[in-house]
Amino acid sequence: MIGFSDTFGSRATIIFLFICLALVQNPAFGAKTRHFKWAVESIYWSPDCVENVVIGINGQFPGPTIRALAGDTISVELTNKLNTEGVVIHWHGIRQFGTPWADGAASISQCAINPGETFVYRFKVDKAGTYFYHGHYGMQRSGGLYGSLIVDLPEGEKEPFHYDGEFNLLLSDWWHKSSQLQEVDLSSKPFRWIGEPQTLLINGRGQYNCSLAAQFINSSSSICEFRGNEPCAPQILHVHPNKTYRLRVTSTTALASLNLAIGNHKLVVVEADGNYVQPFSVDNMDIYSGESYSILFTTDQDPSKNYWISSSVRGREPKTPQALTILNYFPTSASKLPTSPPPIAPLWNDYNHSKAFSNKIHARMGSAKPPNTYDHRIILLSTQNRIDGYTKWAINNVSLVLPATPYLGSIKYGLKNAFDHKNPPEDFPSDYDVMKQAPNPNSTYGNGVYMLSFNSTVDVILQNANALAANVSDIHPWHLHGHVFWVLGYGEGKFTKEDEAKFNLKNPPLRNTAVIFPYGWTALRFVADNPGVWAFHCHIEPHLHMGMGVVFAEGVDRARKVPNEALTCGLTGKMFLNNKGH
Ligand code: C2O
Ligand code: CU
Repeated sequence: MIGFSDTFGSRATIIFLFICLALVQNPAFGAKTRHFKWAVESIYWSPDCVENVVIGINGQFPGPTIRALAGDTISVELTNKLNTEGVVIHWHGIRQFGTPWADGAASISQCAINPGETFVYRFKVDKAGTYFYHGHYGMQRSGGLYGSLIVDLPEGEKEPFHYDGEFNLLLSDWWHKSSQLQEVDLSSKPFRWIGEPQTLLINGRGQYNCSLAAQFINSSSSICEFRGNEPCAPQILHVHPNKTYRLRVTSTTALASLNLAIGNHKLVVVEADGNYVQPFSVDNMDIYSGESYSILFTTDQDPSKNYWISSSVRGREPKTPQALTILNYFPTSASKLPTSPPPIAPLWNDYNHSKAFSNKIHARMGSAKPPNTYDHRIILLSTQNRIDGYTKWAINNVSLVLPATPYLGSIKYGLKNAFDHKNPPEDFPSDYDVMKQAPNPNSTYGNGVYMLSFNSTVDVILQNANALAANVSDIHPWHLHGHVFWVLGYGEGKFTKEDEAKFNLKNPPLRNTAVIFPYGWTALRFVADNPGVWAFHCHIEPHLHMGMGVVFAEGVDRARKVPNEALTCGLTGKMFLNNKGH
């Protein structure tokens, strides 16, 4: 509108805007653009009843929930009000077809937004499902920068299952130590481990050192006292008897793998990462960082009682108490504590239980099937290493350090010195023993890119191994940006050619996150059909920070012009823009 100074001009502009508005909101045209204005800012908050600083959005923690219909366009005008650090937001699970620069991965799809600056994320949500968003720069996800993103079916379309109401649980873990201090710990020589989280949060609420369950067991009311309106008071789920509810569950934990249960109630899993699964029923479910599920539960229990909903640590010795909230049956009072104890989570290291759950997940009948063969197979070995005395994670012995100029722009415009153009290794030495400590754990830094042919079918075999310490192998949930992949299978020990015979090509689930179990492998297949540059990494924030990730690129020449503001950082990016005359 700049430049319109006469009244006719502004009137014309207003009329024009009016027509545009009418177009975007006319249901005949279907999809809508939903506008949001966000300020990211450090604020005081008490996520677990202990006052601390979180990264909030518009003064809220967790950030506001975005709710849209499939086909809508989301437009978030994001202003960075953190005074000393950049920021980006990644829309986890949204594929960003046609808008790779809106993926919100610092140094990959865009420059971090400087303090005081504004960046507009504009992208289409093309598929209904349960998603979330989070910071993707430094360790800002640990700092509390996250929220839910829920996409409903477009008007007139129905889910393949019935429910009477729904709830949303966003699970996370919380440290009293700031994310900046955690970052310093992890980057120190000698290495300092950040330790286990102080508190598990449900929708940003937890209770440090005050267990609702203990209150139940001791039946003393002094242990936890919530004055209802405190930001740490648990959000109670109010239900009516004999109904079916959809529970959306997402994990944005920095570290913890979790197990979720509702006392006395069965959980029927129907959605995983925005994809329908063949419904199956369990007593409790595992959820790893970066995953989301929808489950159905039926309120078929005694309505004169309330029931516990719990989230507990899996896969690491739990030093963090379980998070609890209450399922409150109408007309029972919400303040009445359940009469049976909170669900007991499976033992933290009962990996057979975890594997059994993962192996129950299949694509819903009628879902897209994977191609029968692959064009390109990449084997990625995850190891814990040392570089000059620093502790790192590496993939095929390369620990990822992101470049100053984002890949998307530097690949699109052929900038020569922005990153290492040598292809990173696609396999590891055949004599490497994944069951033992590496005889030489030294590795190197790198920032090379796996170049994938556009539209090729790519197999990734994620191979786990022993970490630096003897008899230790961690869980790693791997998340791929810009795609969904089929999970073809999980296996034990080192992957061999013969394992291929066991791949599930019939009904493998589509996901955007898949876990590798200790000492095991996981096989994934996807089609490289989305022009852009995409991060693929362990979703455990400290692991990513210590180098546990790789970068894929495909069809970047087909991507539309990359907006300047996604490129103007780092020497090569700036020089390029100067030469262009900007
Ligand atoms: Cu939710 Cu690259 O991550
Ligand atoms: Cu990891």
